[in-house]
Formats: sequence, C-alpha cells, structure tokens
Amino acid sequence: MNRLDPLVLGIETSCDETGIGIVRGTTLLSNTIASSMEEHARYGGVVPEVAARAHLEELVPAIHAAVAEAGIRLTDLDAIAVTSGPGLAGALMVGVGAAKALAVALGKPIYAVNHLVGHVGADLLRNGAEHADEPLEYPTIALLVSGGHTSLLLVRDLVSDVELLGETIDDAAGEAFDKVARILGLPYPGGPEIDRAAQGGDPRAIRFPRGLSRPKDMALHRYDFSFSGLKTSVARWVEQRQDAGETVPIADVAASFREAVVDILLTKAVAACVDLGVPRLLLGGGVIANARLRALAEERTTAAGIALRIPPLSLCTDNGAMIAALGAQLIIAGHEPSTLGFGADSTLPVSEIQV
Ligand code: KG4
Ligand code: ZN
Repeated sequence: MNRLDPLVLGIETSCDETGIGIVRGTTLLSNTIASSMEEHARYGGVVPEVAARAHLEELVPAIHAAVAEAGIRLTDLDAIAVTSGPGLAGALMVGVGAAKALAVALGKPIYAVNHLVGHVGADLLRNGAEHADEPLEYPTIALLVSGGHTSLLLVRDLVSDVELLGETIDDAAGEAFDKVARILGLPYPGGPEIDRAAQGGDPRAIRFPRGLSRPKDMALHRYDFSFSGLKTSVARWVEQRQDAGETVPIADVAASFREAVVDILLTKAVAACVDLGVPRLLLGGGVIANARLRALAEERTTAAGIALRIPPLSLCTDNGAMIAALGAQLIIAGHEPSTLGFGADSTLPVSEIQV
C-alpha cells in the first residue's frame, strides 16, 4: 500500500446524499453525489426509509461514475473508506455493506470513519481553491451545520484528537430552516428558499429568540444550540398575523429568522475560539451555503482576529470525497485498517474518529 499518497475511495451514505469520492492523498480526483432530496420534498424532510432505498439504487452507478471520472481502476485503490456514523441507521448500513463487499472482493483494507470528522477533513481537499497551499492548522474550532447536525468541535488533530464542545439539543439548524420554510409556505429544502426570500427583508424587523443564550443557559450550555423554540416563535408570530387577517411580511420574517440562526451560531463559535484561545474557525455542512452566514462569519472572525476557512460548497455538503480524505489521512498517519466486524453506528461520538 502507498502510505505516502494513498489512492482511496470514500463512501458516504449517512443521510440523503449517496456520495462516492476518490482522492490521492489530499488531491481530489472525483466527487460523485446522487441526492434523494427530491424524493423527500413532499414530506418536508428526510424520510429514513426512502433515503436507504435510494442509496441502494444509486450506489453502484455512483461508484462506476466516480471511478470513470478519476480515470482509475478499482484494482488501483490502496483502500476503501466509509462513513460508519453518526447518521440514519438504515442509510448508513447500505454504505457500510457496500464498502465491506468492495473491500473483500478487491482484497483491499477498509477504514470505517466518523462522518463529522469527515466534514473537517474536507478542508484538506482544496485543490485550486483559495488558500489551497496553506494546510489546515491545529488546533482549530469547527462549526458543522446541516440538516442533520449542528456541532461545535475542538480539533487538536484530525486523526487522533477531536472533542465535541457542543451540539444542538433539539433540531439541527438546517432542519429549522426547512420547518420555517414550511410555515411560510415555501418548498423543501427550505434553506435556499429562506435565503432568497430574506434578500429584500429587514433582519431587525422582528426580534426572534436566540436559543440557549441567556446567562443561565450560557453557564450550562455554553456551546450547545437549540432551534425548536425559535421555530415555535416564528410559527406563533405568523399565526397571529394570519388570525388578525393581516398579510405576513415573508421577506421580513425570513430575514429576521435567518438573522437569529446565524447570530447564535456565530456568537457561540466565536466564543469558543476566544475562550479556548484558538484563532481558527472552520465551517462545514450544507447550511454554510447561507449568504448571511458567510457574510457575518467573515465580519465577526475578522473583528476577533480569527482565521476563517470555508471549503468549497461541493465539499461542505455531504460527500464521499471528505470520507476518502479522512481515510487517506489515517493511512498517512500509520493507522491500521478497521476490522470487518464494525457496523453502522447512528450515534457514533465524534471522539471516535475511526471505528
Ligand atoms: O449538508 P446537507 O446538504 O445535508 C444534510 O443535512 O443532509 O445540508 C442540507 C441542509 C438542509 O436543511 C437545507 O435546508 C440547508 O442545508 N441549506 C441551507 C441553505 N442551503 C442548504 N440553509 C440555509 N441557507 C442556505 N442557503
Ligand atoms: Zn453531514
């Protein structure tokens, strides 16, 4: 096995994206993503069984497409990497089963890895992107926000030392966007819709609550998030207008809601950087597409003297390349492969980087 610049195929199926990525060390060769998002649209959120079935249908074609795009043969691979968790159990099982089958059939080692740490690993694959030549420095704080997770991590070393500082105690931030979009009569996925609707709105029109930000909460849940109270507050505000026969100012509600989410995410992320003396913040997850989040992140980190890193969006949303990148780093660091007894672990703690 090439341990200096390993050729790794990564499989990601923790939610609704079937991601197959191929990397050589930190060089991205292909990033194939098949999403079942449209199939979930009429339910307003990801339906686990529908996601698992879609992975089953998409996996083999996605592997063929990724291999063709990378211009390699499966037999050239040094290893297979796969998301073992956290995520939807049934969805994870499809990827884990496929990865094991591939590894056994090809006689290649397998690395079962943590999805959240994979999001951090995505930053290594910045070929052609801004700061591509500047390696990720440690320690770094990572803020991961998607439809499935909202987590704040302290990463001292990608392959050996990742600590969970805080996470959402109820809805994920992306989920809140999806639910509020529904309240406003906007389609799924709600994030891009709210982003668009908010463009002409006033973010100060309505003061929506910032979850877990009161002094009492900051003592107990300093780095945790909560978005269900915010969602309820938006629902109540909209209902009151509707009951009074008034039109709902969608742009103002969207802008004010978006401001509440983005404000609390960045307040807590910057607080973690300052408290822990870590002048680096890395963002990941689909919600990073949010225009206001990107602008405010730039503003707040500049003001606090924190270096901000945002991987290209195609690597921020769930993908197989980030899993392959993490697998490659484990190999480069000399870690042994996983044994085939591992399974899908829907609640895998972030400190377990490899299973
Ligand atoms: O990382 P991702 O693609 O995967 C899963 O969570 O599965 O994230 C999807 C989430 C959805 O909840 C979507 O509404 C949200 O990211 N999202 C956004 C934006 N674009 C996508 N949220 C806010 N603003 C956006 N522009
Ligand atoms: Zn994710």
